[in-house]
Amino acid sequence: MAIGTRNPNLITLALLSLCAMATAKVFFEERFDEGWENRWVKSDWKKEDGMAGEWNYTSGKWNGDSNDKGIQTSEDYRFFAISAEYPEFSNKDKTLVFQFTVKHEQKLDCGGGYMKLLSGDIDQKKFGGDSPYSIMFGPDICGYSTKKVHAILTYNGKNNLIKKDVPCETDQLTHVYTFILRPDATYSILIDNVEKQTGSLYSDWDLLPPKQIKDPEAKKPEDWDDKEYIPDPEDKKPDGYDDIPKEIPDAEAKKPEDWDDEEDGEWTPPTIPNPEYKGPWTQKKIKNPNYKGKWKAPLIDNPDFKDDPDLYVFPNLKYVGIELWQVKSGTLFDNVLITDDPDYAKKVVEETWGKQKDAEKAAFEEAEKKREEEEAKEDPVDSDAEDEDDGDDADDESKSDDVTKDASEDEKEDDEHDEL
Ligand SMILES: *[C@@H]1O[C@H](CO)[C@@H](O)[C@H](O)[C@H]1NC(C)=O
Repeated sequence: MAIGTRNPNLITLALLSLCAMATAKVFFEERFDEGWENRWVKSDWKKEDGMAGEWNYTSGKWNGDSNDKGIQTSEDYRFFAISAEYPEFSNKDKTLVFQFTVKHEQKLDCGGGYMKLLSGDIDQKKFGGDSPYSIMFGPDICGYSTKKVHAILTYNGKNNLIKKDVPCETDQLTHVYTFILRPDATYSILIDNVEKQTGSLYSDWDLLPPKQIKDPEAKKPEDWDDKEYIPDPEDKKPDGYDDIPKEIPDAEAKKPEDWDDEEDGEWTPPTIPNPEYKGPWTQKKIKNPNYKGKWKAPLIDNPDFKDDPDLYVFPNLKYVGIELWQVKSGTLFDNVLITDDPDYAKKVVEETWGKQKDAEKAAFEEAEKKREEEEAKEDPVDSDAEDEDDGDDADDESKSDDVTKDASEDEKEDDEHDEL
């Protein structure tokens, strides 16, 4: 090992990474230590109608370090809005990294876990759902259909959703969400330091009109044959095919003994389906030898496309905020970071989440075990009218009731959520 430290390559590497660290610019970093309340402003949004939810400063019910606290939504069916200011900056010619950890301690059935970057001057006391933002990023869960990472970019006043599907984590443990935006207009989305999606602002959002469009002038040539199959000219209807009757008299049928021709009329046997009858004749189909495939209009440069070399630029980023609607509370945010250095962000992940995740998982499993034991203890109390009814049945019933209620609530929540 002593030899290893003398290896010049290793030393160069270490120096290089030190240099890289030294140049990292951190625009904002919040670990929610002492004094965080002086840095964050709780909004009065929804306060008047009693719908503003309270934040709980806590490390949560299970954690990897009980001294490492964050802020957690603590009231159900509430709106939450809080923000912090940092010195205004532009990400022009810089990489922008926006990162935070989020833990849904509640089994989240409908609610966001995303954060926003805001620009310009905002009245933080009025920050809410209508406040314009520049970037919205993070997990969003609602019902069975929505379980995704939002990445919304605002361009010329319009919010643009990412067009790629990025699934989010859905368990009750802490996860790190990282959004990286680069000056070459590429981006990456990481969860727990693992890249989940990457690509270009040009292709994965509709920020600009498309570079190329189908030529509106192009027309399908008259002689373009787009029929894949044609009737086989060799296949001819056999002579007499149409003369085969659908039904024939039943040869087995016999005139009843007591049939009276005079009274009952002339006897005719009943008819049965003709086994020779094969339905109306249809010509066989064959592959069309002249088939050219489906016609597609050629692509031309879009006259409405005007490139914007500053497509990725947000010139006056100044605030970070959380603005959420939650049906069930319990989402805990921590370790908010805005920097120009993905390596520094990575290091922060390793130092925070990386060091705590195993202990947190163990604590969670312990808490789950306790909860299950307590539920088992509570059960006999639930069914104290257990005289003749066997307790198990009563239990099953109440459980299935819960399930149907949950499902219909989910649908309702889905609707509410969509309106937001
Ligand atoms: C805050 O969180 C802690 C830990 O989960 C919990 O014990 C406490 O009851 C919470 N307080 C409120 C006001 O929700």
